[in-house]
Amino acid sequence: MNRKVLKAVFPVAGLGTRFLPATKSIPKEIMTLVDRPLIQYAIDEARAAGIKEFIFVTSRGKNALEDYFDHAPQIEDALRSKGKKDLLDTLESTNMESGAIAYIRQHKAMGLGHAVWCARRLIANEPFAVILPDDVIAAEKPCLQQMVEAYEETGANMVAAMEVPREKTHAYGILDVERDLGDKVLIKGMVEKPSVEDAPSNLAVIGRYILTPKVLHNLDQNFKHNRLGAGGELQLTDAIAEEINAQGVYGYRFNGQRFDCGSKAGFLQATVSFGLSRPELRDEFAGYLRELVSLKQAAE
Ligand code: G1P
Repeated sequence: MNRKVLKAVFPVAGLGTRFLPATKSIPKEIMTLVDRPLIQYAIDEARAAGIKEFIFVTSRGKNALEDYFDHAPQIEDALRSKGKKDLLDTLESTNMESGAIAYIRQHKAMGLGHAVWCARRLIANEPFAVILPDDVIAAEKPCLQQMVEAYEETGANMVAAMEVPREKTHAYGILDVERDLGDKVLIKGMVEKPSVEDAPSNLAVIGRYILTPKVLHNLDQNFKHNRLGAGGELQLTDAIAEEINAQGVYGYRFNGQRFDCGSKAGFLQATVSFGLSRPELRDEFAGYLRELVSLKQAAE
């Protein structure tokens, strides 16, 4: 079995209703943390992990994403003639090679499993990664790279994992742990969005996956036989769980800080954190935040 992970699927078909009215005219993946769209963070992470083919599962109204990944010769020329080398470098670092990106339309919102299933022909018979751009992970070594390295040792399906507060388990895929191996966790069960009472643990799936083609086969079977899961959707979690007693499934406790940019609070936290990590902004921004906090404390 080929263990090199060269393809990644980015499910970006969601309507992003939590961010209305902004998402009325821009895809939520184009919303920016400081000055980079969410999708750029996902692409950079995939590239660092050695991904060469980028498969976007989109929907109506997502054209801005295709434009974003196109080259921008006019802006590049303008920057070149003005000698703005730094900005030119920034822009050029986002350019994608021709043929590296493919777009597939998901015609019906039938869940994450369905979105990945839509990409089945492009993935074909290879292991592949899935990145959910809402989950932004700040890490010294990018999260997917950590996982690719771990996958090369095991060859088994792997999902990023992180402990969440018990009252939040209903928002995640939750893992049932067979054996805790430190970074890696061998699992014996996996349920999508369980209630607090039904959750087997508080170890949640975060939006990074490395999957074998067998998971695509399971999705295909579940789709054909209309075996839908939580929320009446075709669930990726269910298709992965079917491999627990076959190829095996690992959770991977990554090093890094995850921001849930699918929620407003998470998006704001990421904005503050990424703002503070930028050398050119740090002093002014930190000064502002300090002032804000001390004013608030004085008022209390
Ligand atoms: C998806 C997955 C879920 C996972 C989560 C991570 O849910 O279905 O298993 O825990 O992403 O962010 P969503 O947030 O798309 O509802």
